[in-house]
Amino acid sequence: MIEIILANKNNIKDIQTVSNVAWPNAFKEILSPHQIKYMMNWMYSDESLQEQMYVKNHRYFLAKENDRFLGYMSIEHNCENSGKTKIHKIYILPDQQKKGIGKLLLYRAIAETKKQNDNAIYLNVNKYNENAIGFYKKNGFFLAKEEVIDIGNGFIMDDYVFEKSV
Ligand SMILES: CC(C)(COP(=O)(O)OP(=O)(O)OC[C@H]1O[C@@H](n2cnc3c(N)ncnc32)[C@H](O)[C@@H]1OP(=O)(O)O)[C@@H](O)C(=O)NCCC(=O)NCCS
Repeated sequence: MIEIILANKNNIKDIQTVSNVAWPNAFKEILSPHQIKYMMNWMYSDESLQEQMYVKNHRYFLAKENDRFLGYMSIEHNCENSGKTKIHKIYILPDQQKKGIGKLLLYRAIAETKKQNDNAIYLNVNKYNENAIGFYKKNGFFLAKEEVIDIGNGFIMDDYVFEKSV
């Protein structure tokens, strides 16, 4: 049985084990190897994950089956005082996709959003990430806006923002 657990600093290695496979795989045809390396270090180093969890209040959840971790998600309630919850990350191992695990994590995000009295859930997705865009549309998200974000080192993120009321 797959369970969704709230992660803490003791799970940083577990998050990295999944992200080291899932993240580069998701972006191998979208971003350059340089940008993938830069972004992996920026988002998934020990220091960055600790800061996200304990300074920025990002809550990490892991999908776990027996002793194996299959995916993760991070969310932030009342992000930028918007009264909305942001999904910062949602990644499933390539060989575990399309089995309902993304939906399990998304339903948990929706439940946590309601608990916090936020009224919507939103996220950024790369404009060329057709697989994820298909998933969000199938699950009731609408396109709210487009956003180009400068992430330093000459790199940008060319994103859509998708949103869903809860
Ligand atoms: C996007 C992602 C999180 C979806 O998770 P998943 O476990 O593969 O999706 P699920 O199996 O839970 O799918 C849930 C539902 O969405 C549908 N769905 C999934 N991907 C879809 C797609 N590309 N297009 C249309 N529908 C899709 C499924 O058919 C399922 O429908 P159902 O409820 O009628 O059965 C996962 O594929 C992933 O990790 N992708 C790579 C990382 C990534 O791009 N993350 C997003 C960054 S913004």
